[in-house]
Amino acid sequence: MAGSFQALQVAGFCVKKSRRHTIPTAQLVKSGIIRFPRSGVPMRLYSHMNLLDFILDRWEAICRAWERLGDLKPPKRGASSAARPGVVSASDAFTPTRPRSGARTLVGREAEIARILEAIMDENAHVVLYSERGRGKTSLSNLVADSFRKRGAIVARHTCDANSDFDSMMRGLMRNLAPSLLSIRPMEAGQEGCEAALPTRHLRPADIPLVIERLTCPFVLFLVDEFDRIQDTETRTKLADTIKILSDHAIRMHFMIVGVSATLEQIIGQHPSIQRNIVAIHLPLLTDDEIALMLEKGGRQAGLQFSEEAKELVVFVARGMPYMAQLLGLRVTQAALRRAATSVIREDLVSAVNRLLDEAGSGVLMIYRALTESEVGEDMHAVLRRLATARQDERGRMSIVKSGGDVVVGGIRLTQEAWSLLIAAGALAPPDGDGTTTQILDRPLFYHVQLLAARERLIEASPRSADTLVQTSIA
Ligand SMILES: Nc1ncnc2c1ncn2[C@@H]1O[C@H](COP(=O)(O)OP(=O)(O)OP(=O)(O)O)[C@@H](O)[C@H]1O
Ligand SMILES: [Mg+2]
Repeated sequence: MAGSFQALQVAGFCVKKSRRHTIPTAQLVKSGIIRFPRSGVPMRLYSHMNLLDFILDRWEAICRAWERLGDLKPPKRGASSAARPGVVSASDAFTPTRPRSGARTLVGREAEIARILEAIMDENAHVVLYSERGRGKTSLSNLVADSFRKRGAIVARHTCDANSDFDSMMRGLMRNLAPSLLSIRPMEAGQEGCEAALPTRHLRPADIPLVIERLTCPFVLFLVDEFDRIQDTETRTKLADTIKILSDHAIRMHFMIVGVSATLEQIIGQHPSIQRNIVAIHLPLLTDDEIALMLEKGGRQAGLQFSEEAKELVVFVARGMPYMAQLLGLRVTQAALRRAATSVIREDLVSAVNRLLDEAGSGVLMIYRALTESEVGEDMHAVLRRLATARQDERGRMSIVKSGGDVVVGGIRLTQEAWSLLIAAGALAPPDGDGTTTQILDRPLFYHVQLLAARERLIEASPRSADTLVQTSIA
């Protein structure tokens, strides 16, 4: 019962009540409050964060189940969700710290999903999905996993960390599969999921194709997230060799490798032998219309209407980044719900922008100060402000053109000195291979710049907001 108490505690339920009523674990599972993962490891082994995510994801179901289970009413999570049926809390409508799951919660990405399905199903290829941090790779891979499951494929997932290597990655994937898929028995002590399909010794690429014969499924998708965290080159080489063997023998086991990277080579290394077997997908920024749609969707879920001004503000600050749109959307929604309102007004925007500026990390403030106080013969406040709205393509790249002694970045003219300073400070990426493009390297810095600009716009639009701004800053 430790796990169920913990679950109830984390969810904010009345612990006293749970202690008094000893609810059998089986009943909690049946009611959807806790679950047993496929491997049979009970919920209590989950980390607090997983547990919290799990509970937040299923809040409505938990409340319904709780009502069925006992005589206590479920706790209220904000006026709006409790008062209006079908309306969710702000943190369920906007999830900056959680990848999305489920097609209805995502905006855009139709082209990328279609391309991934085509690459794997029709072209027998493997996929590498990459981009800068926070663009929605994990959210998109959740959707890809759902699509494959609907088509009858088995999906194994593994998230890498700095200590991962080929062995731990492959074992992690196999452990993620239900043991019922295993066609061989018995398992050795300590093995989980379908790990028994792998030899117990150090793994070699040639071991992986044999796995399919030890499973009862005809098609497996191996989804490997955070692949960029793997440090050693040997793992990259072994993965490349595995992909080559699987492709050469047309074995229905496919990899989808996901990671933070600016280029394909950076993430999988230089392996010309597998270039034909891989479809590389660079995840683009969302369009302004998609960001606006994200707000409409989230607002609808939270029972809130976003004004045109609110959408414009979020589009202006986020510049195509779903993470920032989710974060600002959440703060605006929280501000509006604190007033128990059903539509967003300017004061909510002021409050949200203020809150995010107050929450800026010390690293961001330090670099902002260092840049704006540096003596480069140019007003760096203005430079940062103009650069934050410089023209970028769908990948977030800005063109570089040398002009006289200056450098024109995304249409913004900088002195050579300012340009060098921005590169040295890590605000902009060094020019790419052929020297024609750069991109924002320090997103939080540019979010900060945009938030400051947004605050000024709000003050100009409504002098009344200025009082609120000053008050909040003093507080
Ligand atoms: N298409 C989308 N529609 C709505 N929200 C999205 C979309 N894509 C991403 N998000 C939101 O943006 C944030 C970042 O998404 P996600 O974690 O999937 O990005 P990521 O690229 O995997 O990040 P990281 O590089 O840190 O692993 C999350 O809050 C997620 O809810
Ligand atoms: Mg991710």
